[in-house]
Parts: sequence; C-alpha cells; structure tokens
Amino acid sequence: MGIIRTEKLGYDYVRYSEDESEKSYVHAIKEIDIDIARGSFVGILGHNGSGKSTLARHINALLLPTRGTIWIDGEDTAKEPQIWKIRQKAGMVFQNPDNQIIGTTVEEDVGFGPENLGVKREEIWERVEKSLMSVGMLKMRTLSPNRLSGG
Ligand SMILES: Nc1ncnc2c1ncn2[C@@H]1O[C@H](COP(=O)(O)OP(=O)(O)OP(=O)(O)O)[C@@H](O)[C@H]1O
Ligand SMILES: [Mg+2]
Repeated sequence: MGIIRTEKLGYDYVRYSEDESEKSYVHAIKEIDIDIARGSFVGILGHNGSGKSTLARHINALLLPTRGTIWIDGEDTAKEPQIWKIRQKAGMVFQNPDNQIIGTTVEEDVGFGPENLGVKREEIWERVEKSLMSVGMLKMRTLSPNRLSGG
C-alpha cells in the first residue's frame, strides 16, 4: 500500500444561505481513488475549484471524508486516535508564505515544527542548525523572517 491511498474518497462542504434557513451541499471531490508510492513526487493539476485543496486537506486530516476512505501510511484518518500519528507524517505548506510565519526570528520559525512534534530541546537546535545550513541560511538565523526576501 502506498504512503497515501484513497478509496472512493468524497467530500461535501455544507453551505448555508445568508439567513441560515437553507442548507445546500458542494460536492468538492468525489470518488477519488489514488495510491501514491512512498518517495515519489506527485503534482495534482486542475482548474480553480476542482478540489485540489480539499484533497490536500484530507492528507493531514484537516478535513475528514464524508464518503470513502483515506489512509496515510496505512492509518485511516477518520479514526480519531490516529490523528497525532498522521500529522507527524503529513505536513502542509500553505499558498502564501506570509500567512505561516510564526517566529520572531528565522531560527524560532524553523524550530516551531519540531517543537510541536515534541522533539527534545537540544535536538530542536541541532535540527534547526542542520536545516538552515542545508539551504545556506545559517547567517540569517537571528533575522526577522518578515525581513527576508520573498524567494
Ligand atoms: N469552506 C468551503 N465552504 C463551501 N464550499 C467550499 C469551501 N471551500 C471550498 N469550497 C468549494 O469546493 C470546491 C473545491 O474547492 P477547492 O478549494 O478544493 O478547489 P481548488 O482546486 O483548490 O481551487 P483553487 O485552484 O482555486 O485553489 C469549489 O467548488 C469551492 O467553491
Ligand atoms: Mg486551492
């Protein structure tokens, strides 16, 4: 089984009219069957509103299927106790980088992820240093992330 697998995955958003008297459903994705192998790089293309983000939100259990099933490394995301395990494996990078800056310095920002995974303090610093070094950003560790160039 692949790292990401779905079977007849479907999701309906519920939409209410302005006065909340009427309820309708948006069938954002339906009957999706995919099986993505560990280590592969996959791009998903589609026109605006075709359901790409909706599918992505199922991968780290931000949304749970209204029909069908999605397994991340064999774990069914709809089974509540698995969410912590799933979120340690499946991350999400949002479209606008400015919306996901958390730290006041570059190193704090890079350390935010492992800190949330419960990694020990010394290891967080090791990982931060290694990560910044690998992208040639060690010199910027104490700068404000807001002051870096977009790239
Ligand atoms: N929170 C929401 N409530 C109701 N309908 C929604 C919601 N979010 C998305 N939709 C609808 O679900 C469908 C799929 O939207 P989705 O955002 O997954 O598409 P997308 O492929 O990511 O689009 P884009 O290319 O614009 O990012 C669209 O019809 C959209 O209007
Ligand atoms: Mg989208």
